[in-house]
Amino acid sequence: MEDKKKVIFSGAQPSGKLSIGNYIGALKNWVDLQNDYDCYYCVVDMHAITVRQEPAELRRRTLETLAIYMACGIDPEKVTLFVQSHVPAHAELSWVLGCYTMFGELSRMTQFKEKSRKYENNINAGLFTYPVLMAADILLYNADLVPVGVDQTQHIELARNIAQRFNQVYSPTFVVPEGYVTKAGAKIMSLQDPEKKMSKSDPNPNANVNILDSRDDIIRKFKRAVTDSEACIKYDPARPGIANLMSIYSVFTGKSFEEIEREFDGVGYGDFKLAVGEACADTLAPIQERFNQLIADKDYLDSVMKNGAEKAARTAYRTLSKVYKKVGFLPYVR
Ligand code: TRP
Repeated sequence: MEDKKKVIFSGAQPSGKLSIGNYIGALKNWVDLQNDYDCYYCVVDMHAITVRQEPAELRRRTLETLAIYMACGIDPEKVTLFVQSHVPAHAELSWVLGCYTMFGELSRMTQFKEKSRKYENNINAGLFTYPVLMAADILLYNADLVPVGVDQTQHIELARNIAQRFNQVYSPTFVVPEGYVTKAGAKIMSLQDPEKKMSKSDPNPNANVNILDSRDDIIRKFKRAVTDSEACIKYDPARPGIANLMSIYSVFTGKSFEEIEREFDGVGYGDFKLAVGEACADTLAPIQERFNQLIADKDYLDSVMKNGAEKAARTAYRTLSKVYKKVGFLPYVR
């Protein structure tokens, strides 16, 4: 029964350069969830403009992000895959929810504080109300579960508070969503500084492997990965370089840490790194091939976005009209 399935909502910023960290930590998960849940996956271009964007770049990245998702296995026939700005209800609900969110709550958001430091010349109101738009994303679809990275848990908590507050002031309207935090094992670290998370914005290009990197680049980056001087391949969280490479190899081959330790018993780091690079490149090759096909077929991508936005809008406007009624807006008689 389709409508009995639990609802999942997740969003991702339109960053053209998704890394294997995004793939392992988020995307792969999204693909696994699509069979068992009613999933809404959204490319959040409206969140992206809270920092300055080059318009042509933003358009290109939004499309590429969508195509990467599909290339990784997100099936637009199974999920609702869409672009946030195509469904105006997100902006509309965001305004209403903003009136049920306290200045103090938003001031406490760690991401806002961090971004205010990073973009000190552009601390705009959108950056401040970012979590309200995120709450609107989630609450419009009555999502039960929201898969996110740990850095977003504070925003989920706020979305829950907003939902509960609204439900209390009026009557039950929103499902109070739960965060679904990706496991620690799924966290992929920088190849250059394995104490730090792999980040697509790392200025050192050797620190991250992108989903669309060429085979040569992938192998070269793994060759240069920072390890240690112990010269043995054993899983130990206290040795973050080797632990990270083992985690990556494990994800791409399906082998357990014990199997990997046995396979590389007495083998040098050079050969091990080459094996990790090859396993990664082998996994990404078919994804890249599919991406190239998709990105060349603009008409198809347009039709996916259109269907996605229409499907999303049907649910979203059902929620929004309930909300408008409850807060006391006069019905617009057409
Ligand atoms: N803020 C999230 C991030 O940067 C992206 C996002 C926007 C999101 N809206 C969302 C994630 C709704 C989950 C649900 O990762």
